[in-house]
Amino acid sequence: MTMLPTFHSPRGAAVAAISAADLDVKTELAQEAARRWQRRTLSLRSPLDRPVPLRPGRPDKPVLTPPTKVKKRSLGSLKGRIALLHSIAHIELNAVDLALDIVARFATESVPNSFFDGWMKVAFEEAKHFRMVRQRLHDLGADYGDLPAHDGLWQAAHDTRNDLTARLAVVPLILEARGLDVTPALQARMRETGDFETAAVLDVIYEDEKGHVAVGAKWFRFLCAREKKDPAATFQQLVRANFRGPLKAPFNDIARAEAGLTPSFYRSMTASTNLS
Ligand SMILES: [Fe+2]
Ligand SMILES: [Fe+2]
Repeated sequence: MTMLPTFHSPRGAAVAAISAADLDVKTELAQEAARRWQRRTLSLRSPLDRPVPLRPGRPDKPVLTPPTKVKKRSLGSLKGRIALLHSIAHIELNAVDLALDIVARFATESVPNSFFDGWMKVAFEEAKHFRMVRQRLHDLGADYGDLPAHDGLWQAAHDTRNDLTARLAVVPLILEARGLDVTPALQARMRETGDFETAAVLDVIYEDEKGHVAVGAKWFRFLCAREKKDPAATFQQLVRANFRGPLKAPFNDIARAEAGLTPSFYRSMTASTNLS
């Protein structure tokens, strides 16, 4: 078994996992941190350990490129499915670091302990997703790192590093909610092409991601209520200030609403109403 660094606080655990460039270590640390937080063997009152890294630890590969340079391939071919799984693996890996970055960066925020219950669970599940998708890549004769990947996700998070409410607006309520919009079509496409194994992996991710958007919506609403702000109006204002480009329709209104993200948040922010 891999040796893990020691940690005593959620923040210390999160910083160690974010810093890890070995992806087996990173995902194991994320899951061990979540287990120990659940067993209440980590203390929020531990000293602040190391500073939160500005960039997560990463292996040499994949090479990072601007989002526009990542090629799109047909999902009917093996190459196309590998490219899809590779891009999902990259998203899941970033999601591990993003969940832990919320824990690490906002550990000093005055929020109830259940805030960390939520984000530790998200980190645990993102690590699980990364491993499942990487395993599927292995089954298809490929690996994470074989193709280039883009760096847009971390950038979006970096821009909101000083404001928890803005971070929640951008990461769970825009980026993860977008996953709910696009995944059902991918699940259907995988079943059509006969790749039921990939479809099953996407099923697990889709169900878990509803929970991640729900954690985001719950704490976004909590912070708005504490500051006596209207959540939908605050969301729109933070998105305009912190997110480049309009939100992409069509939306999966049902899954979004189940997670507590109602159309009043995002309906007025699509491309067609943002042209002026
Ligand atoms: Fe995920
Ligand atoms: Fe997620």
